[in-house]
Amino acid sequence: MEFMSEVLKILEGALKANGSLAANYGGLLADKLASTGEVHQARLIREQLARAPKALAFAQDASRGVSLGQVPLDGDSRLNTVDVSLPSLDGLSLFLPSAIQVRVEEFLQSIRHHDELAKAGAALPARLFVYGAPGTGKTMMARWIAASLNLPLLTVRCDTLVSSLLGQTSRNLRRVFDYAQQAPSILFLDEFDALAAARGNERDVGELQRVVIALLQNMDALPDNTILIAASNHEQLLDRAVWRRFGFRIPMPLPDKELRLRLWQDMLGSFAPKKLNWNELAALSEGTTGAVIQQVCLDTKRSTILQGDKVVEDAALFRRLGLMMRLAEGVYFSDQDDEIRWLRAWMPERFSLRVLARLYGKSVRQIMTMTGGVTEDGNEEGEANASS
Ligand SMILES: Nc1ncnc2c1ncn2[C@@H]1O[C@H](COP(=O)(O)OP(=O)(O)OP(=O)(O)O)[C@@H](O)[C@H]1O
Ligand SMILES: [Mg+2]
Repeated sequence: MEFMSEVLKILEGALKANGSLAANYGGLLADKLASTGEVHQARLIREQLARAPKALAFAQDASRGVSLGQVPLDGDSRLNTVDVSLPSLDGLSLFLPSAIQVRVEEFLQSIRHHDELAKAGAALPARLFVYGAPGTGKTMMARWIAASLNLPLLTVRCDTLVSSLLGQTSRNLRRVFDYAQQAPSILFLDEFDALAAARGNERDVGELQRVVIALLQNMDALPDNTILIAASNHEQLLDRAVWRRFGFRIPMPLPDKELRLRLWQDMLGSFAPKKLNWNELAALSEGTTGAVIQQVCLDTKRSTILQGDKVVEDAALFRRLGLMMRLAEGVYFSDQDDEIRWLRAWMPERFSLRVLARLYGKSVRQIMTMTGGVTEDGNEEGEANASS
């Protein structure tokens, strides 16, 4: 039978006396029937839904006819444990190596064709684990998937879910998993290692074990077609039993040169200078993440706009990149003079005395004195003139 998963969810809602669960999936079934030409049946369902009790009808989200009800709270702090959003594909460009893109597409296909695959006994539960260094686009990937599937994203920061009160964490987890089953949605467990750290971790062993066991139980009780995405920077901390439960595991690598080039082009957009040496920019930014590239572009664009310009100056761009990369390596300059000296030594051709003077609002002579070791005989100034 077609649309069996919706029918089962409606039944589940009725049996658990959960009106919004039944109504949400009723609405979804009506949409699916309408899209396959069963207009009459769709209308019957919608008429039935229109007769739902007032409280329920009120809870329906006008934009999508989906109600997720009251978001769960942490029993300890009374703060929301789930953040609900409806990401859109507008302005969301995710750049991935092609092998990873293929795998993400397979994940989407397995969701879109779940019923068909399940009939053939070839369905994988919709569980995706994304892992990689900070700033490689894991959270963005979750948003991109939600936008592609046109589903609400229920983001859970696992570190805030782990409560200071013993026993509260497992209860929080239960509430979050129940909440995600109210309506078609994506449950996104961000900073997942906070929850799924290996059993036998030396700190607080008893509580952690209970949390991991609760997590495994909740995952096992989740219907196969409920979409779960988890993200972590520390996949090596993950309990193996948790790891195995994700049919799709996607590593997020640092962008290679080709991807860095695309990131720079996308993020600079119309602010890119005409004669920018893209190749040099992509090569120099080796080892950085998309997040660093984004930060450099935003910072440079911001100061460009405040100066009343429409195009960034390439020296300003390279300067921010150099400083950001040093910062990422843990190198801090004690003062501006240090920074200037470093830039001068890093790329003497690009950061001529004159360019540095302009960037830092100083005179060429001041820069010359500051950079000390370099010639002070006047030739330097000539060199600066030539290259600026
Ligand atoms: N592959 C990518 N394609 C496009 N943009 C990217 C990519 N990687 C990073 N970015 C940019 O970096 C920003 C931060 O990325 P995101 O928050 O998704 O990283 P993350 O992997 O979740 O990091 P963290 O582990 O710190 O949470 C994004 O908003 C995006 O602009
Ligand atoms: Mg993130």
